[in-house]
Amino acid sequence: MRRLAPFLGIALLLAGCGGGKTVSPTAKTVIGTIPTGSGASVPAGDAKTGAKLFKSQGCDGCHIFTPAGSTKTIGPDLDKLAQYAKQANSGSEAAFAFESIKSPSTYIQPGYEKAAPMPNFGQILKDKQIADLVAYLTKG
Ligand code: HEC
Repeated sequence: MRRLAPFLGIALLLAGCGGGKTVSPTAKTVIGTIPTGSGASVPAGDAKTGAKLFKSQGCDGCHIFTPAGSTKTIGPDLDKLAQYAKQANSGSEAAFAFESIKSPSTYIQPGYEKAAPMPNFGQILKDKQIADLVAYLTKG
């Protein structure tokens, strides 16, 4: 009987964490809104790359965003992102934007329940690309 070492990979992964302490998330019951601060560690993004992605991914086909010159009103007006983030009460504007792009159905902007749903970009884009978009959407 031979056994491979299936946990070796996990051990290596853990070793790669640089000795940081293990933090286990505490379960909490959330009713009504999404958990706050869940996107607390938004990776650093590059606004220029974000601007390109905004066009290539068709964000401009559904959203107003003045820096991109886009005027479509299928989705919420992204010029007002800071205001939406406050209303959603789910962490910083960047964290809110990151979560909204990665997992659009987690929080639906009031009034847009019946709109053509935003594509699930969490399955299309890498976290870095989402961070680039966030950098573009939140600068200035
Ligand atoms: C097919 C149309 C469509 C496309 C394409 C689209 N969105 Fe959306 N988006 C929506 C709709 C509708 C909502 C509102 C529902 C919701 O909150 O998920 C939304 C919500 C958002 C929100 C959250 C706003 C809020 O207040 O909840 C952000 C941020 C956003 N979109 C960014 C993007 C970016 C960046 C892209 C391109 C990568 C994109 N969207 C592509 C339709 C779209």
